[in-house]
Amino acid sequence: MRYIPEPYRIKMVEPIRMLTREEREIRLQEAKYNVFNIRSDDVYIDLLTDSGTGAMSDRQWAGMMMGDEAYAGSRGYFKVLDAVRDLFGYTYAQPVHQGRAAEQVLFPNLIKPGQTVISNMHFDTTRAHVELAGGIAVDRVVPEAMDTAHSAPFKGNMDVAALERTIQETGAANVALIIMTITNNSAGGQPVSIANIRETRAIADRYGIRMIIDAARFAENAYFVKMREPEFKDASIRDIVRETFRYGDAFTMSAKKDAIVNMGGLVGIREDSDLYENVKKLTVPFEGFVTYGGLSGRDLEALAIGLYEGTEESWLRFRIGQIEYLGAKLQEAGIPFQTPVGGHAVFLDAKALLPHIPYHEFPAQALTLELYREGGIRCCDIGSYMLGNDPKTGKQLQAEFEFCRLAIPRRVYTQAHMDYIADVMTDIRDRAAAIMGYRITWEPPVLRHFTAHLEPLGIA
Ligand code: F0G
Repeated sequence: MRYIPEPYRIKMVEPIRMLTREEREIRLQEAKYNVFNIRSDDVYIDLLTDSGTGAMSDRQWAGMMMGDEAYAGSRGYFKVLDAVRDLFGYTYAQPVHQGRAAEQVLFPNLIKPGQTVISNMHFDTTRAHVELAGGIAVDRVVPEAMDTAHSAPFKGNMDVAALERTIQETGAANVALIIMTITNNSAGGQPVSIANIRETRAIADRYGIRMIIDAARFAENAYFVKMREPEFKDASIRDIVRETFRYGDAFTMSAKKDAIVNMGGLVGIREDSDLYENVKKLTVPFEGFVTYGGLSGRDLEALAIGLYEGTEESWLRFRIGQIEYLGAKLQEAGIPFQTPVGGHAVFLDAKALLPHIPYHEFPAQALTLELYREGGIRCCDIGSYMLGNDPKTGKQLQAEFEFCRLAIPRRVYTQAHMDYIADVMTDIRDRAAAIMGYRITWEPPVLRHFTAHLEPLGIA
């Protein structure tokens, strides 16, 4: 497979360095086998997340210098508002400091305690904010998402039949919201088709339920729609974005992904002025005055520019192409992953690569640690280690997937880095059968994966 060259050239560089194998082993021990405890300076290639880790363009940096730091009514706010109206066709925009802040200021206005929220898949913070608002979060992704070896164009889709059944069983009045996550991060960065968004909206309308969009990776989703949904093969990315958002009543966005800023988020509201008033009421105490919403004036400038750069077709062609290139190299080497690759990451299937490690010995965490040991690469477990224990029984839960996520930051790494990642994985594949599981020696009660301590169950 051919690598699509970067549609940019490099104007500034940030050195990275590789520790020796012995040093890496010591860092792992010191970090108690938790990659969140490793210093970034000790990481060679950092694939922990694609969130806030992208490189800004010269235009965005120029915008930063032009930032208006007025407490109220700054220029940047109006640029963001204009961009939201232009790109998404929504009347109201509330900037916030990141995606979870958008959830925090929107959800309590839409969810009554005890109500259910149905999503193709909730991201963790989204689920947490549904629950903080008193709601019950349920996922209704299509079943093909679960079969990592089976390739399908839109594995992020909502299972519309299951959605309708759940609404009927729960009673429409008890369903607060339908949330469409595009792309579907937790299922492997898999896209959602416009046809599926339309069907979901039709069900929402039939039962009088609001639909909102979790838009963190909206531009990558639009690119997949262009490539895979025949109706849109000649449409521009911007037209596909417009079409996508027509079906939402509001959106929350972590701008740290497709809007390519290091910090920022948005709530967009199509037309409901009462809802906007209520969002403002929560924004002021939590995030700050409505025209800056937890951001500096310079961040607003970078965000307004990033929203446009992130939706350029030449950028998206390269972006998705780079991840497909990595996927093709891994496939050649016989390394299992969620196929096809997602928009922002390759989700390695640790269950398939390390079948000898049971879920309660954390195969995806074992593979994550092996990538650092072998190649100084940092990624993360999205499996049973991250899922944690049943809050009622305290027993380890078994995750649907044991993914090790290689999230690719935007505009940061090159083809040589992709080749290197594939080489490291090939070396790991060759000794996969000897890799051992881990056990937890200390853990906090919630969100343990960030801080827990582990130890290996044997010598790898
Ligand atoms: N929604 C989705 C789909 C996300 O992937 C994230 C963040 C959020 C909401 C929350 O946004 O971090 O800006 O508060 N995902 C990151 C990740 C952290 O690594 O996938 P945030």
